[in-house]
Amino acid sequence: MPPSTTTKATTAPPWSPLFKSHLTSPSNKSKSFTLATVTTTKDGTPVPRSRTCELRGFFPEVFSLHRSAADALEAQGIGRNPDGRFESDMPVFTTDVRMSKLGELGVSGGVVEGVFWLEGVGVQWRVRGRSFVFGGGDNGDEDEEGGRGEVWSGVRVKDQTDQKENDWDWERMVTTYFASHSPVMRGSFRNPPPGQPRSVNPDDLKIGDKVEDLKDPIARKNFRVVVIRPDEVEMLDLSTAPDAVRKRWTVVRDGQEEKWEEMELWP
Ligand SMILES: Cc1cc2nc3c(=O)[nH]c(=O)nc-3n(C[C@H](O)[C@H](O)[C@H](O)COP(=O)(O)O)c2cc1C
Repeated sequence: MPPSTTTKATTAPPWSPLFKSHLTSPSNKSKSFTLATVTTTKDGTPVPRSRTCELRGFFPEVFSLHRSAADALEAQGIGRNPDGRFESDMPVFTTDVRMSKLGELGVSGGVVEGVFWLEGVGVQWRVRGRSFVFGGGDNGDEDEEGGRGEVWSGVRVKDQTDQKENDWDWERMVTTYFASHSPVMRGSFRNPPPGQPRSVNPDDLKIGDKVEDLKDPIARKNFRVVVIRPDEVEMLDLSTAPDAVRKRWTVVRDGQEEKWEEMELWP
């Protein structure tokens, strides 16, 4: 069951339809983005870190769940959360818990920025917000539990008249994101430890395994889903250059109310 239905976001933020239309435009060939985090060196100096990640959907929607993956979810007794019933504007990426970025996200709610350069449409989007990590399983820590509430408050019910029983489960959702990877990609979560010297492989893991079992214990121990809850979004539309359009939207949250303020800026 979802944790709470009392603080639901009810309307889409003003930037969201435009962002999604750019992402799904036939001219746009990529859904990867640059994810920036902040960390500190041993002497305490703050330093930036950035890397490319793949947008997997807007929680809890999943881009590209292959037919065979949907079949595997059924065949392996996992099933599906109600499809198409919920939507949001919170970008999702997946990662390996052993990678540096996980530590750099900090405690649940750590700040990140995702930068999308959608070359085909000539638009840059910068999405700033807080990140929430899921996938620790039933033993997921308290952070994860708190994150569920935060993320759920950003999810909208698309069809309010749908009175179906809320057959929704967080672990099943994480498994669905896992299933949306190819068997080879799933296998990468049981690679030797990412970012460690090649001479280090304490668990004697190997590269190139294909994983069909959606509950593969090693891969699932390492697999994580990260949801970004946006606080500020900025668009730079260069398609109209030299008079490029630059807009910034900032959220104002007041109790259960969520309002986005829009400001047009010089480019
Ligand atoms: C096109 C592309 C897509 C990628 N997608 C992801 C992704 O979705 N998640 C991820 O953790 N790493 C992804 N990577 C690898 C990261 O860029 C990075 O090398 C790796 O995650 C280690 O980063 P870290 O040490 O900062 O954690 C991708 C790389 C490329 C080139």
